Parts: sequence; structure tokens; C-alpha cells
Amino acid sequence: MIAAGQHLVLVGLMGAGKSTVGRLLGERLGRRVVDSDAVIEAQTGRTVREIFEHDGEPAFRTLETAALLEALADAEPLVIAAAGGVVLREENRAALRRPDVRVVWLAADPAVLVERVRSGAHRPALDDDPAGTLRRMHETRESLYREVADLIVSVDGRSVTDVVEAILR
Ligand code: S3P
Repeated sequence: MIAAGQHLVLVGLMGAGKSTVGRLLGERLGRRVVDSDAVIEAQTGRTVREIFEHDGEPAFRTLETAALLEALADAEPLVIAAAGGVVLREENRAALRRPDVRVVWLAADPAVLVERVRSGAHRPALDDDPAGTLRRMHETRESLYREVADLIVSVDGRSVTDVVEAILR
């Protein structure tokens, strides 16, 4: 159960539904929703793709850490839809393990995700071989998502409303 003062953070692979589930959870809980990619794009005035292509992934990851830590420093408890790669840095995982933070992993089979996810302005990694990329990301990150998760919700074959109810229960 989410305590009143705790931030609620959604993690999981691209396409798992973090932004959509986050928006609904924000409505249900009466909380502001922060999407880490959207924060980065608003603050830099550039798309995630532009940052990846011009500055490289490490530069993007540094912005991602800053966006996460800034959201977690907010005194108001938030719903945070964290981008898929947020668990890659130990510094981020340490922040996600804080007692005032509850983490929900939206777990999905990468073979199912590939059917619903598209590359685009914020997902340059999916331009080539999306199935292989998602499978590799799943292999690398599964243990990291598990490490930070307080709750694991499987999203395969479930509606968004069902996932939201499972989190709130
Ligand atoms: C990434 C996920 C994307 C975005 C970037 C990298 C990743 O966010 O930050 O393309 O490495 O998993 P979403 O998970 O919101 O799609």
C-alpha cells in the first residue's frame, strides 16, 4: 500500500505502459504526474532522440538522473513515470530504494511489447531490430527492476484499468 508521503515510481521497459498507467494513477490519487522523458525534453528544449544522436547516451543518462533526483526531492508526493533505462545507474537505484519511495515494476514479456511499442522521437533505440533490442534490454535489466521493485505487476494481456486497480489494491 502506498503511504501518503511516499512517491510512487513506475519502472519497466519501453511500451510497458508507464505513462498511461501513471496518468490514471495520478487522477485516482489526486497527485501530480511527472514523466522523466518529458521533464528532460521540456528542460533542454530538445527531444530524447536529438540528445541521444548529438550528445550520446551517457549524456542522456546524466540528464535522466538529474530529472529523477529532482522529482524525488519534491516535497509533494508524486506519481513518477520513470523512463525505461532509469535502473541502469546504481545512483538511481539507491534513490529508488529510499523509504519514502515506492516502486512498481510493470513487468512485460518483450515479445508482447514489440507488438505495441513504436520507435519515435523519444525511442531511438527501437529504430533497428526492435524485437532484439527489447529482448536484450529485458535480459540486462530484469534483475535491476526486481532489485528496486516493492511491487511487481505483470501487464501482459491486462487492461490499463486492471493494472491501475492492481497497484491501488
Ligand atoms: C529508454 C526508454 C525511453 C527513453 C529512451 C531510452 C530506455 O523512455 O528514455 O528512449 O533505455 O529504456 P520510455 O521507457 O518512457 O519509453
